[in-house]
Amino acid sequence: MKLCVALDLATKEECLNIAKDLKNLDLWLKVGLRAYLRDGFRFIEDLKTISEFKIFLDLKIHDIPNTMADACEEIAKLGVDMINIHASAGNIAMQEVMNRLNKFSKRPLVLAVSALTSFDEENFFNIYKQKINEAVINFAKMSNHSGLDGMVCSVFESKNIKENTRQDFLTLTPGIRPFGECNDDQKRVADLIMAKKNKSDFIVVGRPIYKDKNPRMICEKILENING
Ligand code: C5P
Repeated sequence: MKLCVALDLATKEECLNIAKDLKNLDLWLKVGLRAYLRDGFRFIEDLKTISEFKIFLDLKIHDIPNTMADACEEIAKLGVDMINIHASAGNIAMQEVMNRLNKFSKRPLVLAVSALTSFDEENFFNIYKQKINEAVINFAKMSNHSGLDGMVCSVFESKNIKENTRQDFLTLTPGIRPFGECNDDQKRVADLIMAKKNKSDFIVVGRPIYKDKNPRMICEKILENING
């Protein structure tokens, strides 16, 4: 299991300060839409200069197949290590993305976004005419058949996704409160024990790390727990 730290702070400087504090730790950093729109490719370069962090660029690409594939090709040229696209864009779009990326000698891992956690059952049903759990498994099977590497999902879906695809189909799970910290606005949270039990490959942790007065110490504690 790998730790992925969400850099959701308000300014580039604050994000870079956290990255400096976490220098030389074996972890991934998650760069979201806000930071990427604000700070662009230079931000990714700056992070890579600080340390050999692996970067997950979380842009949740969703469009027609050709436009998605064009966008993903451009993202792959940035040299990031993991990206994500919406599974609801469909098989053809996901396959087109993978066909293009597979031409790169080294491509980023590609994860599928299934049901956004902001949906409740009713809102989700109004759009997809399915229950969330059923749709997530359906999205997982589609994504696996389309050649993607894994899914963004909740800890509670991770095991089921692997059982319905393959054990090495990656799961990246946000909503982690490593040692039972405050939930903030997350609804379905899990701790490290739960994440391990459910075979999460990547846990995403934001506020419990960057809001703490000693982010490095929290990361070290998490890494110790993961590797121990
Ligand atoms: O601060 P916290 O640990 O709750 O941050 C979780 C991160 O994971 C945020 O960047 C959030 O946008 C992201 N995320 C999520 N739930 C999803 C997908 C992404 O919390 N389903």
